[in-house]
Amino acid sequence: MRLGSLTLTSNLFLSPLAGYTNLPFRLVVREIGGAGLCTTDLVNARSLLEKNPKAFKLIETRPADSPLAVQLFGSVPEEMRDAALMLESFGIAAIDINMGCPVRKVCNVGGGSAMMTELNKTAALVRGMVGAVKIPVTAKMRLGWDDDNLTAPDLARALEDAGVAGIFVHGRTREQGFGGTVNLAGIRKVVDTVKNIPVIGNGDIIAPQAAKKMFDETGCAGVSIGRGAFYDPWIFQRTLHYLNVFSLASRGRSGERVGVRGSSENLASSPQPSPPLREEREKNFDLDGKLLPEPSFAERVRVMRRHLDLMIEVFGEELGCRMFRKVAPWYAKRFGPCHEFNKKVVRIATRAEFHDVLDNYIRWRRQFLDETGELQPRFRPPPMVASFMREPEPASTRREQIPVPKGPVEVW
Ligand SMILES: Cc1cc2nc3c(=O)[nH]c(=O)nc-3n(C[C@H](O)[C@H](O)[C@H](O)COP(=O)(O)O)c2cc1C
Repeated sequence: MRLGSLTLTSNLFLSPLAGYTNLPFRLVVREIGGAGLCTTDLVNARSLLEKNPKAFKLIETRPADSPLAVQLFGSVPEEMRDAALMLESFGIAAIDINMGCPVRKVCNVGGGSAMMTELNKTAALVRGMVGAVKIPVTAKMRLGWDDDNLTAPDLARALEDAGVAGIFVHGRTREQGFGGTVNLAGIRKVVDTVKNIPVIGNGDIIAPQAAKKMFDETGCAGVSIGRGAFYDPWIFQRTLHYLNVFSLASRGRSGERVGVRGSSENLASSPQPSPPLREEREKNFDLDGKLLPEPSFAERVRVMRRHLDLMIEVFGEELGCRMFRKVAPWYAKRFGPCHEFNKKVVRIATRAEFHDVLDNYIRWRRQFLDETGELQPRFRPPPMVASFMREPEPASTRREQIPVPKGPVEVW
């Protein structure tokens, strides 16, 4: 897909997750494959201009980490413009603006003319950035303040007029925080309101089926994945495969490509499978093979070790290990019984200690395996189901819930 002047190899995006989407994690995602564009944690524009070392660490990158978008945060137009220019000169591929919920004041006073004032101010800031750089500038927002103030469509239109190359929209309101259901109809309204730019839907995509549902029901041009990628950095690769199978299936049936804007089949720029693989998939499109299997325990462990190695490479052993204390439990969420691991991994200070904890855990975990080395069914983690895919279910059915973060949701 295209984002302004940028051509991406897939329409799947890594969302910014402050404290998590650093260089090591992005490299993990890239090595597994499937993401078209990754974004940094949000970075304060003024701190960048002041050459604050922490801000510079947030934008640290290398050639394997491309294409990369940096998410900027700030309200002073000149600072946002100059930070955008600085990032462009560093070779960053795109700039995303964190909109949080910029119409808070407006929502509090109930809309009206104040809303247009706020929109005009925001649009002017964006226009200054877009006019200064050649790389695409995008904006990320929530649906609005609450259900009575779903301001995202108006904001998206105003920003399109100001020149943004795309809109990312988290399908929840500020009032919802991270709870409740992602509102697909709300994302659809944004898609229907903009004229030409891609809208990228976001929220609770924790499995390939959820991505497909978001594409199909909202008509979005891409989807962006945050926490789902932290559980499962394989999600991009597995989602791309899943969407390609459906795309091939519908082409197989009608004899031609039916993908239009607003369909999960619109994967124009995703890598096409080689002819033998394509034949195999076309043959199988009606079978249950649409989903690649979930990664094995051994593969999860391999990637987790690699993630720590990269953390140490980028942050040094002491800080890298300390930061990894909150990363490793995300991997462990799909390990099955894991309290032994979580209890100890939050104290690691060196790579060697991590390997000790892991080796001991692997031995301890054997008691839950069957004779083939797989987790016995009753110890397997329950399936991941997005908020917008849950059906009424018996109280006894276990479902993995995506955790609600602590942090400044007003800017996320
Ligand atoms: C820990 C955490 C940090 C986040 N940091 C940011 C951020 O820096 N900028 C931003 O726009 N959104 C941020 N978000 C919001 C996510 O980008 C995303 O919109 C939200 O988590 C919903 O998507 P998901 O369900 O795929 O995670 C953050 C979310 C979490 C959980």
